[in-house]
This record gives sequence, C-alpha cells and structure tokens, in this order.
Amino acid sequence: MIISSLNTRKITYLVLLSIKSNKKWISLFTARRQSIANEASTELDTKIPDYVDLSACWDKASENIEHIKCGLLKGMKIVPNFISEAEENALFAEIEPYMKRMRYEFDHWDDAIHGFRETERTEWSGIGAEALQRARRHSLEDVTTALPHTHVLDLDEKGYIKPHVDAVRFCGRTVAGLCLLSPAVMRLRHSEQTDLFADFLLSRRCLYIMKDVARYDFTHEILQNDLSHFKGYHVPRTRRISLINRSQPISQ
Ligand code: OGA
Ligand code: MN
Repeated sequence: MIISSLNTRKITYLVLLSIKSNKKWISLFTARRQSIANEASTELDTKIPDYVDLSACWDKASENIEHIKCGLLKGMKIVPNFISEAEENALFAEIEPYMKRMRYEFDHWDDAIHGFRETERTEWSGIGAEALQRARRHSLEDVTTALPHTHVLDLDEKGYIKPHVDAVRFCGRTVAGLCLLSPAVMRLRHSEQTDLFADFLLSRRCLYIMKDVARYDFTHEILQNDLSHFKGYHVPRTRRISLINRSQPISQ
C-alpha cells in the first residue's frame, strides 16, 4: 500500500493532482505574493506523504491551520521498511523470552495504555543492536542526547494506547519508534484545537520519528483493532511490539 520511493512520473502525476484539487496551487500562478506561512505550507502540499491521512478538518482555509499542519508534517516522519525481516526476527528473538514471562495488563482503566507489557533494555546484540543504533542515528540529531535505554512496549492484539503526550519530565523533543510484528494506525490530535487530527500508517518494520510540534502540541494514540482504519481500509492490528528511543528530558 505504501509507495516508499516515488519515481519522476509519479511525482509529476501527484503535482498535477494537487493542482487540480487544490485552489492554493491556482493562486500560485497568479503571482500574488503569499505570506511566509502560506509559502511553507504550499511547499508541503506537493509532498504530503503516503503514510498520512489528513482528515477534512484541515481544509478550512486559515493561515493558522496551515501553520499547524506544516508543523505536524515536519514533526512526524515515517520511514517504511527501516529494518529488514532478518533484523526484525533478531530483535524479536532477543526480547521474546523475557516478554513472554510477563502478563499483559488490562486492569487499570485510567492508564494511558490498555493491554500491554513493557520493559526497558540497554544491552542488545548482533544485527538487532546494529538496527537499533541505525535508528538512533537516523532519529536523533546527536545520539549522545538519547536516553541510554530502549523502551520495549508489547501491545496485545486487543491492546491500544489512549491519547496522551509523553511527559516532558521523562522525555525530550524526540520520540522514535521501531515497529515490529504488526502495522498500526497512530492518530495525532491537536491538544487545543481538538478538531484537528491526522492518522499515520505505521507499517510493520517502519521507523517513526515524532518531534517538536508533533511531539509537544499533539496527543498521540494507537487505535484498537476495530477502529484501525487508514484511508478507508482496515489495518488489522495484531500483537505489536514497539522499540522506542527517546531523547533525554530537557532540564526544566
Ligand atoms: C508510549 C507510546 C507508541 C508506540 O509508550 O508513550 O506512545 O509506538 N508508544 O508504541
Ligand atoms: Mn507516547
């Protein structure tokens, strides 16, 4: 479903589609000088990635909404197939013996996460360790600012993550997750203008990088299986493990 590398013909096609479907593009040809915010958003319009589903709420023409959208799309990036199947297998083999001894927690209705078990791990071996290191280098400007441990979050097939913002006490400006075993849909919703939201397809073996506006101004959640839809298609959510690296909290 995901087009990871667009060839030139596809880009031309998508640009034409944008021109047809977006009035903002038409005004581009009227040579009218646009505000900086509008220019930035026009630039993004050509490149709305396949992994994001923007709902109709963003259509209302307003500079403020364009500005928020721009920040969201700059702050949330997904790299499909960031790890190979062999790397996924190695990472899974390393954590599974430990994870399967724990029970999934369903009981606490007020927890942000429902149906999960988790741990933190600092030492990794073999090609799994290399993959994690590659993910850190790709996500964090300066790997020395990463927290030393990786958060391992194992969601049961009936599990889901409710909307939340990661606590600034425990995490800096970047959250980067490697997604194992199952695809999932992550919804980001603006914390104040709550009608503004977008869905992101986290394909199996992808890496997502959520930072800045996406990390601070939006809540994020992982949809449960029966609500797990993307661009009209059901994305079956089975058991899913995410390996999350975070930057160190910024001292308050
Ligand atoms: C979290 C979280 C997302 C994921 O643990 O705070 O949002 O990809 N996890 O599992
Ligand atoms: Mn989170």
